[in-house]
Amino acid sequence: MSQAHEKLNLASEPLLQLDDIEVIYEKVIFAIKHISLQVGPQSIVALLGANGAGKSTILKAISGLAPAQRGEIVQGKIVYSGKDITQATPGQLVAQGLVQVLEGRHCFGHLTVEENLLTGAFIRRPSSKALAQDLERVYAFFPRLKLLRKSYAGYTSGGEQQMVAIGRALMANPKLILLDEPSMGLAPQIVEEIFEIVHQLQQTQGLSFLLAEQNATVALRYANYAYVLESGHITHHGDAQTIASSQALSDSYLGGR
Ligand SMILES: Nc1ncnc2c1ncn2[C@@H]1O[C@H](COP(=O)(O)OP(=O)(O)O)[C@@H](O)[C@H]1O
Ligand SMILES: [Mg+2]
Repeated sequence: MSQAHEKLNLASEPLLQLDDIEVIYEKVIFAIKHISLQVGPQSIVALLGANGAGKSTILKAISGLAPAQRGEIVQGKIVYSGKDITQATPGQLVAQGLVQVLEGRHCFGHLTVEENLLTGAFIRRPSSKALAQDLERVYAFFPRLKLLRKSYAGYTSGGEQQMVAIGRALMANPKLILLDEPSMGLAPQIVEEIFEIVHQLQQTQGLSFLLAEQNATVALRYANYAYVLESGHITHHGDAQTIASSQALSDSYLGGR
């Protein structure tokens, strides 16, 4: 256990901690139960599980987006940076550096790539000079987006839209990014490119990621720690190498490629 905690960077306080979280939709539909997990500073934590296991529900519970889908946290506590955020709104959380990138990417198709990125900074109201610097910082990680800055996001590829969605999250100056199924529908080479950038952001900017993925193979190569979900429960957790070499995934679902 202590070794696992080292991998989570938990020598100090966790950045994010969920304690016995339960979410139901529409007052009756049970989605997740007894979810306790931690994300350390500067770490990548994977949430793995089949479709419907509860990955997105966990991310939405954290980011304050569950109520928008008639979901409710009926039990448990979520602490971020030492503060209880169980009932915080998405806007309050973004202002504190906790940002979600939704499943399916959700770019504004009728805005250019650069306009999409700028929407991510809105909440901070930075000066135009700071804004320009922030854009350059994003373009340094995503040179391809710089080339496409004047293109309508709706006309870019799926991989490019995923980059726009992550880039927009970066414009909020986050400490923790909740990333929902970044690999979905993308070619393996693009998936690799995106995970490499996530890894760079962790290493060079000190960011943490909580990453929901059905593609366990790729997620476990980049994650420090992983939780495996099945029908709204955590069935296994451990450092990524241990999970990758254990029966955990084949027990829970035929994950992988
Ligand atoms: N808005 C919603 N209303 C009702 N049930 C939902 C809603 N969103 C998800 N669910 C249910 O909650 C469970 C977990 O779903 P989800 O968190 O989306 O899983 P995953 O992201 O792992 O595919 C599923 O049984 C799903 O049908
Ligand atoms: Mg999902």
